[in-house]
Amino acid sequence: MAKNVNVWIDGHHLEVPDTMTIIEAADKHGIYIPRLCYHPDLPPTANCGVCVVEIEGNPTPKRACCTPVAEGMKLHSNSNKLRSYRKTLIEMILSNHEVVCPTCTANNKCELQTLANNLGVDPDALPNILEKKDVDLSSPSIIRDPNKCIACGRCITVCNEVQTVLRSH
Ligand code: SF4
Ligand code: FES
Repeated sequence: MAKNVNVWIDGHHLEVPDTMTIIEAADKHGIYIPRLCYHPDLPPTANCGVCVVEIEGNPTPKRACCTPVAEGMKLHSNSNKLRSYRKTLIEMILSNHEVVCPTCTANNKCELQTLANNLGVDPDALPNILEKKDVDLSSPSIIRDPNKCIACGRCITVCNEVQTVLRSH
């Protein structure tokens, strides 16, 4: 049975069920931890690494989307070190991405674009190593553009866990 635990995020005290992950606890209390692959309606894939937080007493950062809260946990989500780490991750993604924001259907409603803006990443200043691939139009249901894929895994999780549509490859 779930019991409540005391957790501190960036100095804010929260009392939350021990069944929650760090990111769920933060969201419940209006504290935003940056994320890219996490979606509240899906089980976490923990693919992107953007949600890393520093937990006092732990030598390495942990992914907030898949780390459960624990009694007495004190964590930091917005240190210079974490911002720098996230910035590098986003730069690596954008360097291998077809960055055409003004003409993209996701323009102005894109989590990657928002993160890049928030972290001060200028895609035009990055080297681009994308090897362009054909857009996959073979499905009657979806169009898959590999040049825009960020390997978050959400589409796979939705197909497998929500729609329970088997993957053919
Ligand atoms: S998916 Fe987002 S970051 Fe990529 S081109 Fe479209 S708007 Fe820009
Ligand atoms: S949001 Fe946690 S690893 Fe991607």
